This record gives sequence, structure tokens and C-alpha cells, in this order.
Amino acid sequence: MKKVYKRITVKSLQEMKDSGDKISMLTSYDYTTAGIVDKSGIDVILVGDSASNIMAGHETTLPITLDQMIYHASSVIRAVKRALVVVDLPFGTYQSDSQAALESAIRIMKESGSHAVKLEGGKQIKDSIKRIINAGIPVMGHLGLTPQSIYKFGTYTVRAKEEEEANQLLTDAKYLEKIGCFAIVLEKVPSSLAEKVAKEINIPIIGIGAGNKVDGQVLVLHDLIGMTKEFNPRFLRRYMNLHDDMVDAISNFSKDIKKGSFPNKNEQY
Ligand code: KIV
Repeated sequence: MKKVYKRITVKSLQEMKDSGDKISMLTSYDYTTAGIVDKSGIDVILVGDSASNIMAGHETTLPITLDQMIYHASSVIRAVKRALVVVDLPFGTYQSDSQAALESAIRIMKESGSHAVKLEGGKQIKDSIKRIINAGIPVMGHLGLTPQSIYKFGTYTVRAKEEEEANQLLTDAKYLEKIGCFAIVLEKVPSSLAEKVAKEINIPIIGIGAGNKVDGQVLVLHDLIGMTKEFNPRFLRRYMNLHDDMVDAISNFSKDIKKGSFPNKNEQY
């Protein structure tokens, strides 16, 4: 029988992997949606730096700042009772040196009250990851397509299709496990490679565009509920078409105002 968790911790996620229970993870950047996501039983809420695209309209995740991530994370944490809340360290706050990385992670934990941080990259950021973990802060890794490196990759296409990159990814994943990461997000890689990583590594592997042979799945909330319309990767399953429903509702509201039918007698004092 599946264990019921009142509160998700990094230990719960490991237990889920060990017992073969899949882990659900979804983004949220604000109080209202975080409350809904948490009530829906999602295990991990990611305050992703995709907020840079989704909330602020930037083309990439690079511009979002540490202060902005802390603002989003503090709004999320106020709504959450059960899920583990993981926050992305934004671009430029951990790549320069491990002292800067530690200070960024501490600010996120102290000022937002979140439970863990996520960093993109493998062995090249090992000193930062080790230092953060040594300070008692749980770290989630992120390999495969790492959007903070988009200008190095050039495109958002599937990563690690070639043997050399696939081997490097597996080596990095093993390394992240060895230095103490509690889980790894694997983004947009062939499902056969993701399956191999999840089999060879004992910590949970959470996929996005990585097939279903991993330990859990993550999506961006606004994609799942269909608020975004232009983003249509193969891995995305839309559960709603909220964009069109909102346009209908809001245009009806506007029409009602123009016709003078809103507010009616029962909607006034
Ligand atoms: O920032 C984000 O939303 C992410 C997910 C896509 C994994 O990193």
C-alpha cells in the first residue's frame, strides 16, 4: 500500500523512489496557484526560474534576479502545507564561485522559508553544490537541457542524443548523487538514456521530456493548464485550455459592462 505523506521532505522522495511510487512536481510562482497546486496533492512545488518567461515575459530564464526569485518563493511558501518547495538559483548567482553560491542559497532559505534549492549543471559546479549541501541546504540537480545555458546550446532541442554527451550526462548524474544531491531533474533527453540514469542512480530522477521510465515528472503549471498557447513541445500534455476560457470570460465581462448588464440588481448594495 502507498504511504500517505502529510508533509513531503527529501526523505519522503527517497522513500518514493525506493518503493517505486512516482513523484509529481509542478511549478508555481505565486500564493494563489501554489495553494491550488498544494491542495491537488503535488509532491514537489518548483519555484522555477521559468518565472522569467512565464511571469515576466522574458525570452530566456537569464534575466530573473535573486530578489525576484525570493519574492516568488516567499509568496509560494505562504500557501503551502504539504509539498516540498524547491527554488531555482537564478543565472549568475552560483556560477562564479562557491562562496557566492552559498550566499545565494542562504538568502533563498532564510528570506523565503523554502525547503531546498535547484542548480543547473554537473561536475563544473561541484564546489558550489558541495558548499551549499555542507551548510545543510538540500540541493536538487538539473541536467540535460539546462535553459540557463541556452546561448551555449543555441537551441532548445533534445540533448544527449550522441553517445559522448549521453556518457557525460550519466557521469555527471553519478557525480551529483555522490556529492549528496537529493534528486535530479532531467530535461529533454532521449527516454532510453533517462531510463538508464534512473536505473543506475539511487536518488530520484524527475523527468521533463525524458519519457516515463524515470521516478517522477515535472511540468510548468501554465503549460499544463493551457494558459500558454505558443509553447507546444511533444512532451507537454495540456489538461485544460484556460487561455481560451479566460478570453471568453473576460470578453463576456467586457460586453456585459458595455451593455449595462453588469452589475445587475443583485450585484449591488
Ligand atoms: O524553471 C523551471 O520551470 C524548470 C523546470 C522546467 C524543470 O527548471
